[in-house]
Parts: sequence; structure tokens; C-alpha cells
Amino acid sequence: MFPDAEQIIIEIGYGGGEHLALEAGRHPETGYIGCEVFTGGIGKMVQTIAAEGLSNIRLFTDDALKLLMELPDASVDEVYLLYPDPWPKTRHHKRRFVSPTTLGELARVIRPGGVFHFASDIEDYANWTLAHVVRAPEFRFAPEKPGGWHEPYPGWEATRYEQKARREGRLISFYFSFTRV
Ligand SMILES: C[S@@+](CC[C@H](N)C(=O)[O-])C[C@H]1O[C@@H](n2cnc3c(N)ncnc32)[C@H](O)[C@@H]1O
Repeated sequence: MFPDAEQIIIEIGYGGGEHLALEAGRHPETGYIGCEVFTGGIGKMVQTIAAEGLSNIRLFTDDALKLLMELPDASVDEVYLLYPDPWPKTRHHKRRFVSPTTLGELARVIRPGGVFHFASDIEDYANWTLAHVVRAPEFRFAPEKPGGWHEPYPGWEATRYEQKARREGRLISFYFSFTRV
């Protein structure tokens, strides 16, 4: 898929694709796999790839869990899950992307030393994710300082959903990075 890529990075649920296109343009030596099920987002991404001549992006147009399940062990350097659907109602929590099953697959496909990034403006989903990750011994959460998880990733530009959260008054986000031990 990427015979010459120095790294492989996956973005799950890229939405409008702003972060995926920005990162792929910044790092042409890295291979990016974007996963999205929303047809409008896929179409926009295809247009962006053509318009910007991005040759280092491949698109997976089905449930990202299916992609993870097909990938070999320790074959990916980083995975981004940015502003995933929050499913706020308790009876819908089981639809959240972060689960023991997906964390197990992420732990399997991310190489030791690789990173799983999770960002959200929804505190309940951030707590949910931490509660699941602490039960997954394959991942280490070691922030440099208390509250450092409110500082965006280096080079960060707000995604469409982050901009929407800010417009709606949710000004604090969580930017977690979990290292595969
Ligand atoms: C709330 S939007 C966030 C989009 C973008 N990351 C952003 O920050 O603007 C979540 C996206 O994840 C996609 N999505 C949800 N479940 C998915 C899955 N299992 N596999 C791939 N994409 C998924 C949805 O279609 C939607 O576009």
C-alpha cells in the first residue's frame, strides 16, 4: 500500500478531512489511511486529494474497526480519533468507538512506542476513554504535567467539530496521547 513510507498513520472518522489533508501535506514521507463512513466526507476528501495532489493518502470507506481487524500486528505508528461521535445518552454509550474491543485491536496494530491520540470536547467521553485505557495495560498515559491534556497537539489546527464545539460554548477540549508500551 505504501512501499516507501517511513511511517503509517491512521485517522478514524476524519469528517471533512481538514486534519488528514493538513498532516498528509506536511509529511509527504508518511502514509496516511483515512477511515470515514459519511459519504459527504468521503466525497470531500477525494476532491481535496485531487486538488492538493496528495499521493500519500488511502481511504477506507467502512467501519474503522473492520480495517483494524484486517491489519497485521504492530503495523501502524499512530492512530488519531478526533472528536468521535459522543453518543451522550447512557443507553447509547455502547455505540462509542472507544471500547474494550477497539482498544484491543488498537493495541494489536500499533507498534511498541507508537501512539493512539484521542481528542474530544465531551468530558464524559474523555472520562470514559481514560477509564477504558487504564484497564488496557498495553497503553501508557503519562502527561508531562497536570492539565497538560487540555493543550492541543503540536501544530494543531481546530477541526470542524472543534470549531463547532467552540461556537456552542464548549471551550475546553481534551487531547490525550496514549503510548503503546
Ligand atoms: C463528530 S464527527 C468528527 C469529524 C472530525 N474528526 C472532526 O473533528 O471534525 C465523527 C465522524 O466519525 C465518523 N465515524 C463514526 N463512526 C465511525 C467508524 N466506526 N468508522 C469510521 N468513521 C466513523 C462519522 O461518520 C463522523 O464523520
